[in-house]
Amino acid sequence: MNKIIDSILSRRSVRKFRDAQIDNEILTTLLNCGIHAPSAMNKQPWAVRVVQNNEILNKINQDFVDWAKGKQLQGSAARASETDFSVFHHSPTLIVIAADTENHYSKGDCGALAQNISLAAESMNIGTCVIGNVAAVINRSEYLKEILQIPDTYEVVFGIAIGYKNEEPASKPRDESRVIFIK
Ligand SMILES: Cc1cc2nc3c(=O)[nH]c(=O)nc-3n(C[C@H](O)[C@H](O)[C@H](O)COP(=O)(O)O)c2cc1C
Repeated sequence: MNKIIDSILSRRSVRKFRDAQIDNEILTTLLNCGIHAPSAMNKQPWAVRVVQNNEILNKINQDFVDWAKGKQLQGSAARASETDFSVFHHSPTLIVIAADTENHYSKGDCGALAQNISLAAESMNIGTCVIGNVAAVINRSEYLKEILQIPDTYEVVFGIAIGYKNEEPASKPRDESRVIFIK
């Protein structure tokens, strides 16, 4: 084994974070790892926004809670009506990732960027959780798209909740039968 494989195998989605804001130098390193992901023809068809402003974070969460009212949702979103619910699990930073809708490969490229960030974070024992649930609420809101400076031809594909870990979740099962060797 080596350090990269260790990080890949030990990464889990973390949904409990310490309140402390993540160190800026560390965050800059992680984002630099993100933008070193491969992208088709090196187009880098992503827009990355690092959100630490509480008003904006609260607005994203409130928009999600409002949208979720009366809906039967799955996963953590099923608890959206509970007080103190946070769609991004109260992480002190939310990285919002948007993809160029005019680039066929952009969503895959954004996935590579997000995974680079998650794995680099894990290598520093920093927790992350990809948050698909923030995409639609931001894409529906002209106010949020403007304040986050999402370009007109881009759409948010997911966020990444990131912060110092406050839990050590167990590994979720994986289905090895999805991998078939054709020889
Ligand atoms: C595209 C994508 C969207 C996701 N959206 C959410 C989400 O909105 N909220 C959440 O708590 N977890 C979300 N997750 C985390 C998954 O639930 C998690 O990766 C999966 O259960 C496997 O667990 P693991 O990451 O600990 O291995 C998302 C993951 C991906 C890749």
